[in-house]
Amino acid sequence: MYAGILYEKFYSLCGKRLLGKQISKKAGRQGGRPIASHPLAVTGYQSLKYLSITLSLMSGSNAQNQGQKVAVVTGSSSGIGYETALLLARNGFLTYATMRNLQKSDAIKSAADRERLSLRVKQLDVRDDDSVRKAVQSIVSEAGRIDVLVNNAGYGLAGAFEDSSIDEIKDQYETNVYGLVRVTQAVLPTMRKQHSGVIINISSGAGRFGYPGGSVYVSSKFAVEGLSESLSYEVEPFGIKVVLVEPGVIRTDFGRDMVIAKRAQDPSSPYAQMMQAMGAILSKLVENGSDPALVANVVLEAAKSENPKLRYLAGKDVEQMMAARSSMSDEEFHAMMKQGTG
Ligand SMILES: NC(=O)c1ccc[n+]([C@@H]2O[C@H](COP(=O)([O-])OP(=O)(O)OC[C@H]3O[C@@H](n4cnc5c(N)ncnc54)[C@H](OP(=O)(O)O)[C@@H]3O)[C@@H](O)[C@H]2O)c1
Repeated sequence: MYAGILYEKFYSLCGKRLLGKQISKKAGRQGGRPIASHPLAVTGYQSLKYLSITLSLMSGSNAQNQGQKVAVVTGSSSGIGYETALLLARNGFLTYATMRNLQKSDAIKSAADRERLSLRVKQLDVRDDDSVRKAVQSIVSEAGRIDVLVNNAGYGLAGAFEDSSIDEIKDQYETNVYGLVRVTQAVLPTMRKQHSGVIINISSGAGRFGYPGGSVYVSSKFAVEGLSESLSYEVEPFGIKVVLVEPGVIRTDFGRDMVIAKRAQDPSSPYAQMMQAMGAILSKLVENGSDPALVANVVLEAAKSENPKLRYLAGKDVEQMMAARSSMSDEEFHAMMKQGTG
């Protein structure tokens, strides 16, 4: 029975307020005369207030004024990120669909135009400090706030651990872990000042259990799980929630874009047979994988919830795997996985 579950369902492998306060403090210090009774100060305050309102109207884009929530999604050029950005925009979020390569933005832009969605595209490469800083600064200056951050960008490295080079492993972590760290650290100060926000990290079933040939990718998702769980305690007092979404196998470009470790491509690798067996299982799993819209709906549910859970599973396959996982000892689960992976 366990092998059956595994075969069929095994999870994926591979101005105004601030301006007023500043003026009051400064003017209050000038000659000790209270601001309200200082004619120049009052005129200055009114001009600045007028300027601030005018600028905000001119930009026409401050979501705070329209009561619209602001969402940022990384890796929106395809798959889960693409569907999530569109779904959030369809559900009233001013959505920033970010991607590292703007040449891939045509599809999401035309979908948003067709449906007249409030969706804007920004360049953001999660591996690049400057790109992350500029994107977040520009979003905050345009929209005034960030209510939802979806850390979605990621890829998979396949290959036995011994066949994976240190550079390939570092590359995997640079995107899946440090990329998420970079974007989250850039967004947190804004959410903390707002005293609200939800950070939704796209983890994976691979963030809950391992499988052969996936040690590097799996460990990157375990890192995301541990980081998110700890962070949730730290930011809760500031009104910020952290959520993990754990998809099963989803039909996206993930398989096509998967990086196979160089040494794992050598047929004389001692792990070649194991990798071949895993490849065949994976292909079957991907054929039966879920639509990325399923994950987007789970993200939307978490984004709209007043009190989101820490973890959401996304997909029947990963639900079944987790049910099996929680009903078995480590040894039973290990035996099931061994049987299912040949
Ligand atoms: N598909 C699954 O079965 C599955 C299961 C569990 C979890 N996940 C997770 O879901 C997330 C999305 O994957 P997906 O399935 O939607 O695959 P996908 O279609 O390949 O999408 C991955 C996205 O990440 C982007 N990306 C990669 N490196 C980036 C970087 N340095 N900066 C910014 N964006 C970058 C890609 O951009 P480019 O187009 O420029 O490459 C693409 O938009 C990943 O975190 C993945 O681990 C997927």
